[in-house]
Amino acid sequence: MTALDGIRILDFTHVQSGPTCTQLLAWLGADVIKVERPGVGDATRKQLVDVPGADSLYFTMLNHNKRSLTLNTKNETGKEVLTRLIGECDVLVENFAPGALDRMGFGWERVQEINPRMIMASVKGFGPGKYEDCKVYENVAQCAGGSASTTGHLGDVPMVTGAQIGDSGTGLHLALGITAALLQRERSGRGQRVLAPMQDGVVNLCRVKLRDQQRLQAGPLAEYSQHGKGIPFGGATPRAGNDSGGGQPGRILKCKGWESDPDAYTYFITQAAVWKNICDLIGKPEWKEDPDYATPAARLPRLDEIFATVEEWTKTQTKFEVMDACNPLDIPAGPILSMKEIAEDEGLRRSGTIVEVDHPERGRYISVGCPIKLSDCKVEVKRSPLLGEHSIEILSDILGYSGDELQRVIDSGAVGELKDQG
Ligand code: COA
Repeated sequence: MTALDGIRILDFTHVQSGPTCTQLLAWLGADVIKVERPGVGDATRKQLVDVPGADSLYFTMLNHNKRSLTLNTKNETGKEVLTRLIGECDVLVENFAPGALDRMGFGWERVQEINPRMIMASVKGFGPGKYEDCKVYENVAQCAGGSASTTGHLGDVPMVTGAQIGDSGTGLHLALGITAALLQRERSGRGQRVLAPMQDGVVNLCRVKLRDQQRLQAGPLAEYSQHGKGIPFGGATPRAGNDSGGGQPGRILKCKGWESDPDAYTYFITQAAVWKNICDLIGKPEWKEDPDYATPAARLPRLDEIFATVEEWTKTQTKFEVMDACNPLDIPAGPILSMKEIAEDEGLRRSGTIVEVDHPERGRYISVGCPIKLSDCKVEVKRSPLLGEHSIEILSDILGYSGDELQRVIDSGAVGELKDQG
């Protein structure tokens, strides 16, 4: 048994934000039916192609454990099939451009009419208001959600991050909203709408930067390295480079090999509780009692000098040796791992967060498995579906189409060409 056993999801998602949500729900046991346009499918199937003729990694890595139904929802018979599917499913998830579902004839009112228990969940770029009609992609959300203005180096341009906080981050928010709505439905008997706007999701993840915005009114942000350099603060939370976002100062420091290896760095945190251990480790035992260094407040204006001294030590160690030396002393530190190292990481492979998957078109590839571990819900990562791979299976097993009726649907062109389905 799995956590979401028996939950059936009508998945109208595409690109990244929505698919990350429904992939998580599929890993937790839901039956996810991905509805795609016949002959076309999710645009990512054919984006950034590395194996000619095969579904791209972009698609396969975001659509594990789903079934694919091709259905033209603008065709009359397609609408009939969709109406019946809405009646049989628990959740409809979509991240179309604003208004697309209404134009298709399946807005919230119509969906409720067909199935009052239906939960209808959407990702949109912006919530209700001035920008609600805008199309949005990842980096737009990072910028409009406050992340880019606070990322990067002081005096340099705003910067987007490699973590897909706008797309995958919003997918996570939506998945949480859906599971909560399912739980509420147990008691109320009713479905509801769930909306996760990408801008709002990014703002949520930038909470500590809004904290700092308000702290600015009380004076300079002393833990920011710009304070130590004597650079005055402006009216908004500045870009903070690699400064730690919390109350414990931290920086990225060079490690042995940094001259030739772009990832030979460590993140090092001078946590107050272990300051004495840090002093011993870096060969500065005299700093333990020196009033200029002994307290967090005394250290704040000297962080550049302190981290330069720590770096003299880290440069003599590999990033893994830094970790090995710091851990027994309770000093928080972490190696800067490249994607190559992540792909090969034994621990992540053991935990199922990095997996290898077989695919009939592209062969074996590496993917990210379920990052959430439930003790009573085992996750088995299965390859993504080929376009329309399960169309007949879904029409017959879920909707009960057979014989002449099934032939009528096929002949109408609603499910497109059905190759290799017997
Ligand atoms: N059958 C028939 N038509 C279908 C269909 C199907 N199975 N699936 C999709 N379509 C149609 C839609 O109805 C829509 O038609 P319309 O414009 O006539 O109403 C059309 O395909 C295009 O859909 P849309 O979502 O607008 O795609 P797009 O390529 O124009 O825009 C995004 C892509 C991502 C910019 C847009 O979907 C968006 O802003 N989504 C919300 C925010 C989001 O999730 N962004 C992050 C993506 S990672």
